[in-house]
Amino acid sequence: MDITYALLDPEKRGKLPEGEELSFGRLRTDHMFVADYRDGAWHDGRIVPYDSFRVAPGAICLHYGQTIFEGAKGFRHDDGEIYLFRIDRNIKRLNHSASVLCMPEVPEEMHREALLRLIDVERHWCPTEPESSLYIRPFMFGTQDKLGVSPSETYVFCIMLSPSGPYYRGGFSKALRLLITDKFHRAVAGGTGTAKCGGNYGASLRAEEYAYSRKCDQVLYIDASNRYLEEVGTMNHYHVLRDGTFIIPEFNDSVLRSITSTSVLELAEAGVFKARTEQIAIRRFIEDIERGEIVEAGGFGTAAVVSPVGSYMLDDGKIVTVGDGGIGERSRALYEYYTGMQIGRRPAPEGWLTKVPSFR
Ligand SMILES: Cc1ncc(COP(=O)(O)O)c(C=O)c1O
Repeated sequence: MDITYALLDPEKRGKLPEGEELSFGRLRTDHMFVADYRDGAWHDGRIVPYDSFRVAPGAICLHYGQTIFEGAKGFRHDDGEIYLFRIDRNIKRLNHSASVLCMPEVPEEMHREALLRLIDVERHWCPTEPESSLYIRPFMFGTQDKLGVSPSETYVFCIMLSPSGPYYRGGFSKALRLLITDKFHRAVAGGTGTAKCGGNYGASLRAEEYAYSRKCDQVLYIDASNRYLEEVGTMNHYHVLRDGTFIIPEFNDSVLRSITSTSVLELAEAGVFKARTEQIAIRRFIEDIERGEIVEAGGFGTAAVVSPVGSYMLDDGKIVTVGDGGIGERSRALYEYYTGMQIGRRPAPEGWLTKVPSFR
């Protein structure tokens, strides 16, 4: 696909705020990539000023939730260039989500080129402060103006960018408290849990509000049979055994296959860390924390990176503290290793980093 450019005049473009701490997801860059799907093909790939869409009131995405998205990150390295981390995984996962929601694929080559060209235009927006990145949000939604539940015949694919700080305020310096409750479930077997679709996140809002009302940061979802740990609303979960092994709940039909978790598992295969997936019964999990068998815990995700968890609240209000409730050494070591690869200060496995070329 030929990608066209309609760029703002240089004097009309914005820039990163100076001397201000970046929050997650608030800022926008000047431009976005957009392409339209109709008659079975993608058309009119274009880089244009960031602006609102015109969407019909009857658009399928607004009524029946046919929306999917991805979340990836770009980092500025010491050589001044921008590198995208494991972007091929995000490109592939968008198409997995598309298949779950009966949407068309975005050809991988088109997606990659759109990302690289857009970020090339927006280079000056990539921040350099510790824990900051250029957050990349590709997404797709069904636009056909039709009442009646069926897949849309037309779609928009868009990529927007947000120079961002850490997802959780305080970044890596604060351990989270998660609520374990049987009042809400995020996904079920046979449902859409493995897709990054709007509906999964819409459905999590009520549970999140409930967690806040109980002074917790997030919900750690359990499966619909109320027996096994699954994941957090915005990240996969992990705990660390006394011997330093990271245990991630197994990837089933109702858990998002996190690119961060799978990267940790690949690092483990290469002998860098010890990690594996397991089916984790809640009762056993709580007992193992209390017996000191589990010494650290946290979450993995692109936005969350490695986010330590210091304690859990159970439905009856009981608090279960992991270790001393602070940030453990294994979590810190993994965080430093992982972010070291992302920012280019530690070698990353072949193919994990993609340099944004200069197209113009
Ligand atoms: C529900 C959920 N689980 C897990 C993750 C972590 O996935 P990844 O590491 O690919 O960002 C995310 C964030 O993308 C998420 O929203």
